Amino acid sequence: MPALLIGLALLAAGLLLYWLLVSTEGVFLGRRVVVWLYDVTAHRYDRIKQYDPADEQLLVVRPVADALGACRQPRLLDVATGTGRVPLAVAGALDEATIVGLDDAERMLAVAAGKLAPYRRRVALVRSPAAPLPFAAASFDLVTCLEALEFFPSDEAALAEMVRVLRPGGALLATRRSGWEGRLFLTRYRTEAALRQMLERQGLEAIRFFLWEVNYDLVVARKPGDAAA
Ligand SMILES: C[S@@+](CC[C@H](N)C(=O)[O-])C[C@H]1O[C@@H](n2cnc3c(N)ncnc32)[C@H](O)[C@@H]1O
Repeated sequence: MPALLIGLALLAAGLLLYWLLVSTEGVFLGRRVVVWLYDVTAHRYDRIKQYDPADEQLLVVRPVADALGACRQPRLLDVATGTGRVPLAVAGALDEATIVGLDDAERMLAVAAGKLAPYRRRVALVRSPAAPLPFAAASFDLVTCLEALEFFPSDEAALAEMVRVLRPGGALLATRRSGWEGRLFLTRYRTEAALRQMLERQGLEAIRFFLWEVNYDLVVARKPGDAAA
């Protein structure tokens, strides 16, 4: 009997650890743990994700181009840029865009820097948490934040910062973790309605959700103001 109890206790502890470190990637243990986990896996992140350049045209470049519309020489900020997914896809497709990729994980940024070397005149990488953002208000035409809101200590605080640095008329492109994987985030899980309300509280309008990747929706919203750049 004691052996059975010990076995069950070990199983429960193992499941809890798996949920804390793998399923929810450290989010219930604080920002430093999340960032540390990304730092230790940075060298194999791209191998795990296997982003396909053709898919990235559809998943990243097209929504970015649609959100920018006729904006000339657009300034983009990609929050939680990781290994540079958005800067790489956008710099390759939009010649006039300048892009800042921001992330708190130094080694993720080091991988990004290697891949983005050909674009170094138009792409800057900044190490910082998502909130507060080290930029002046109204500095960017578009802010993107893909596959990351669920990892921030406060998604609402991070969104407020993204909205602050957007110019009036600028657009936000973010993702919402969905499906059963999203539900594993318990209190951090956002239904579409909850995220919509959060964006409305930030004063955003024209909020639209799209099916995007497995376990992620894409949400596009606009900051009220002059749509012209
Ligand atoms: C799943 S990756 C997404 C990376 C990239 N956006 C993509 O789609 O490939 C999540 C990223 O969020 C970053 N991150 C997590 N918490 C952060 C925080 N509080 N501030 C800034 N970056 C953070 C991690 O370092 C990691 O690079």
